[in-house]
Amino acid sequence: MQIKKIDESFLNELYKISQMEFCEESYSFKQLEECLNNKDYICLGTFFNNEMASYVIALETVDDVNILSIATKKEYKNQGLATSLIKNLMNYATSNNKSVSLEVKSKNAVAYNLYLKLGFKVVSKRLNYYKDKDTALIMFYNLQQYYQ
Ligand SMILES: CC(C)(COP(=O)(O)OP(=O)(O)OC[C@H]1O[C@@H](n2cnc3c(N)ncnc32)[C@H](O)[C@@H]1OP(=O)(O)O)[C@@H](O)C(=O)NCCC(=O)NCCS
Repeated sequence: MQIKKIDESFLNELYKISQMEFCEESYSFKQLEECLNNKDYICLGTFFNNEMASYVIALETVDDVNILSIATKKEYKNQGLATSLIKNLMNYATSNNKSVSLEVKSKNAVAYNLYLKLGFKVVSKRLNYYKDKDTALIMFYNLQQYYQ
């Protein structure tokens, strides 16, 4: 398995995974295209030979790396791929003195457990945030600079 920056030749595949995993909540093709072409976004994938099995898209700002979307293809789930992608971002953020942030639906137990396992902490909640009235949990890793 290799972790690589996603280039535009994988845009169709990226959109396919996003559609499969997020359905109507998926980013549009155009939004994903913009992410791949904007240097403020970090777009990483895990690859087996030339097949992309999972991806993460994050927006880098001056003090934070904000994970916007992460998904793993069905047949590759539970093999540690999302963990590897997030750890890659965590290492990058730590060595650049940045936090890592994300937002997750409280009912998304798989994702929530994964983030907890990696050391993310819930710092705030947005009640009734989603269309289905679920709560958004705002989670951070490496937020210590705010407490100094
Ligand atoms: C969330 C997602 C990206 C995880 O991808 P993955 O590559 O399978 O994740 P990993 O194999 O690295 O991590 C597996 C971890 O998920 C959690 N998990 C997996 N199945 C679970 C279950 N049935 N119940 C609770 N937690 C579970 C565990 O923490 C597990 O770690 P463990 O095996 O050490 O216990 C993937 O399930 C996915 O694409 N989901 C749909 C899109 C989505 O919800 N994205 C996140 C939006 S915030």
